Amino acid sequence: MEQSEMGSKLEKMLSAKRFEHSMGVQHTAVALAKHYGADKKKASIAGLLHDCAKDFNKQQMLQLCLKFDIVLDDICQKDIGLIHGPLGAKIARYEFGIKDEEILDAICFHTFGKADMPLITKIIYLADFIEPSRCFIGVDELRDVAYERLDKAILVALDRTITYVLHKRKLIHPKTIEARNDILLHR
Ligand SMILES: [Fe+2]
Ligand SMILES: [Fe+2]
Repeated sequence: MEQSEMGSKLEKMLSAKRFEHSMGVQHTAVALAKHYGADKKKASIAGLLHDCAKDFNKQQMLQLCLKFDIVLDDICQKDIGLIHGPLGAKIARYEFGIKDEEILDAICFHTFGKADMPLITKIIYLADFIEPSRCFIGVDELRDVAYERLDKAILVALDRTITYVLHKRKLIHPKTIEARNDILLHR
């Protein structure tokens, strides 16, 4: 499938706001890929499709998880929306014909992160945070850091996610903790 075709198919699956966010992530991911010498085409596709499963309702998500044999851990059972990463990777594979494992990995882990993230996965994780329509205190500084030290920027993003979840008294996914520890141990 051509990228333009992917775009029009995706547009029908997402709200206008989410589609705009997806194009923002695509744009930022390509810029980061260019900067860090990653594959621009892979970054572009992964950025565009990363949230392809985000606008399904709870019932649809549960049905699709069954269809694609996605096992929901305790945390995702409690907060089904979190599964849109792993589910998005399946939708990208079977509905958009993506076979590239790096692209699929980046889509799969963009919500939780994980230890030892490959470069494209890191780029999508970060692009999701800093794409042009994102607006939070410190986003401009983070945008600068993103082009200076990738791991440091990802650490800031992970810290932000964990702090947010703590404030909301929600569950923290262990993969997010693993991602953070991994960066602190190896940076
Ligand atoms: Fe997402
Ligand atoms: Fe996103």
